[in-house]
Amino acid sequence: MTLTAETIERAGHFSIGGDLPVVRLGFGAMRITGTGIWGEPEDRAESLRTLRRLPELGINLIDTADSYGPEVSERLIREALYPYKGLVIATKAGLLRPGPGTWVPLGKPEYLRQQVILSIRRLGVERLDLWQLHRIDPHVPQNEQFDAIKALQAEGLIRHVGLSEVSIKDIQAAQKYFRVVTVQNRYNLADRDSEDVLDFCEKNDIGFIPWYPLASGDLAKPGSRLESIAKKHGAAPSQIALAWLLRRSPNMLPIPGTSKVRHLEENVASVAINLSDADVAALNEIRKA
Ligand SMILES: NC(=O)c1ccc[n+]([C@@H]2O[C@H](COP(=O)([O-])OP(=O)(O)OC[C@H]3O[C@@H](n4cnc5c(N)ncnc54)[C@H](OP(=O)(O)O)[C@@H]3O)[C@@H](O)[C@H]2O)c1
Repeated sequence: MTLTAETIERAGHFSIGGDLPVVRLGFGAMRITGTGIWGEPEDRAESLRTLRRLPELGINLIDTADSYGPEVSERLIREALYPYKGLVIATKAGLLRPGPGTWVPLGKPEYLRQQVILSIRRLGVERLDLWQLHRIDPHVPQNEQFDAIKALQAEGLIRHVGLSEVSIKDIQAAQKYFRVVTVQNRYNLADRDSEDVLDFCEKNDIGFIPWYPLASGDLAKPGSRLESIAKKHGAAPSQIALAWLLRRSPNMLPIPGTSKVRHLEENVASVAINLSDADVAALNEIRKA
């Protein structure tokens, strides 16, 4: 299909924190880095082309983190898209990167503050529109981490705050310190452990950002129910997985990640897929099966 800036409108909109309107299909910028989410990407020019294609396609929510590369993802976003007209750049901190493929939580207040300031510097902004605590550090008292975030917001360095990989209890604890506008948990057609958190977000006007949205895994294998529904729509299984996510909740903000323009365009085309109620019922059964 021919993709225009209007195509993406079919995904609908969500207003993050009541004042950051975004199209519900975003982009995950973790994959524009090297192997193990470490260093420069193999094809830097294609990563930059992928980023520059986002506003042309009408995508205006880009998810990144200080730790992607580290620094590489934020730097490439700045190189490709500064001054971000109409774009919401959502970044995170709270994970150390001792090497490729390894991630270690660190939630010390002074470290979180340092990383917020460094993201501001790298992205070239005055404050971060949406900053997410990448992980609650189990070795630092929760109240110290939340207090630090509250102070960063009061100082004007962060506009809105999100959390990542949290339970309902964690969200409620954080809400005593600041408004939680988004929650980013792993969630996809095959992995719905965060179903209760998603329902909580929907009831409380919190955007739910499902990471790893394309991990359809075994479901995409020949003969699977996902494959037969994909064939019926003339679509790839990954497109059905995205269409199902968008249909699942009005608060759902998927951020499929890719380093390739071709895959980005394929992912955007998924917003035009109209799943029938019978399709949705069959897809819901996949998890139970
Ligand atoms: N909060 C957290 O803890 C956390 C953890 C992980 C990720 N995230 C965020 O969530 C985003 C999405 O998660 P993710 O990148 O792990 O998983 P994903 O979006 O489910 O899958 C990304 C993988 O799928 C491939 N892909 C993308 N589109 C495709 C297509 N149309 N056809 C075939 N392959 C395709 C990509 O490879 P190619 O580059 O070859 O297209 C990449 O290897 C990340 O970019 C990041 O922003 C957050």
